[in-house]
Amino acid sequence: MIPEKELKSMFEGVSKLYDFFNDLFSFMLVRLWRRTVSRRFLKKTNRVLDLGIGTGYLSKNIKEDRRVLTVGLDITKTMVLKNIGKLQLYSDPVIGTAANMPFRDDAFETLVSSFTLRSFKKVGMDKVISECKRVVRDKGDIIMLDTAKPNDSLALSFFSVYFKIINFIGGIYNDPAYHWLTKSIMDLDLGYVTEKLREHFNNIMVYKLTGGVAYIWLSKNYKSQEY
Ligand SMILES: C[S@@+](CC[C@H](N)C(=O)[O-])C[C@H]1O[C@@H](n2cnc3c(N)ncnc32)[C@H](O)[C@@H]1O
Repeated sequence: MIPEKELKSMFEGVSKLYDFFNDLFSFMLVRLWRRTVSRRFLKKTNRVLDLGIGTGYLSKNIKEDRRVLTVGLDITKTMVLKNIGKLQLYSDPVIGTAANMPFRDDAFETLVSSFTLRSFKKVGMDKVISECKRVVRDKGDIIMLDTAKPNDSLALSFFSVYFKIINFIGGIYNDPAYHWLTKSIMDLDLGYVTEKLREHFNNIMVYKLTGGVAYIWLSKNYKSQEY
C-alpha cells in the first residue's frame, strides 16, 4: 500500500475513539501540552495553519486563547468529520496531504502541528518540511509538538514497560494502529527532528515537556539568505 493510503486507513480505524484513548494513555497530558503551545509559544498572529488538525483540539485552544480561526489540513476525512459541527467554530478544515499542500506560497504567518510529526516520516520528512517552508511567509513561526524517544535512560525504561500496556489495551481496539503509535514514538529521535528542521529553518529551540515525555520545536522561517 502506498504510505498515504496506509496512514489514512490507520487513522480512519481509530478516529471514533481517538480522543478517548489519547487522553487515557497520556493521563490527559496531551491537553496540557496543546495548551502550552497556544498560551506560551504562539505569538500574536493571524493566518495560522494547523497541520494534521485531526479532531481539532489544538485549533480549539488557539481560538480560545488567541481569538484566531485556523486553517486545518488533514489527510483523514473521518478524523476531521468527528467533531465537524464544533470544529468549524475554530477552524476551516481542508482535506489534503502535508507532502503536497493545497496552499499558495506564503499563505500563513504561523504553522502549528501537534502529534503529527511522527506520521511525516511515512510520506517523507524532507518533503513535508519543504512544504512547510513554502506555505509559511518569511520570518513566520513553525511550532511542532510531539512525543519522541526519550534521551534519559530512566524515562526510556518507563516507556518500554508502559508501551506494552498501551499495546495491550489499545490492541483490543485496534492492534496495528496502537502498535504503530508506540513504535512511531520510539522511531522519532529528538536529534533527527532537530537536525531536519535545522536544514530548512533558523533559530531552532527545543523545549522539554513533562521531563522529556514530549517536546516542542520552535523554528523561524527565514527565506532570504541575508538573515
Ligand atoms: C496523532 S493525530 C494528531 C491530531 C491532532 N493534531 C491532535 O493534536 O490530536 C495525527 C493526525 O495527522 C494526520 N496526518 C498524518 N499524516 C498526514 C499527512 N501526511 N498530511 C496531512 N495530515 C496527516 C492524521 O490523519 C491525523 O489526523
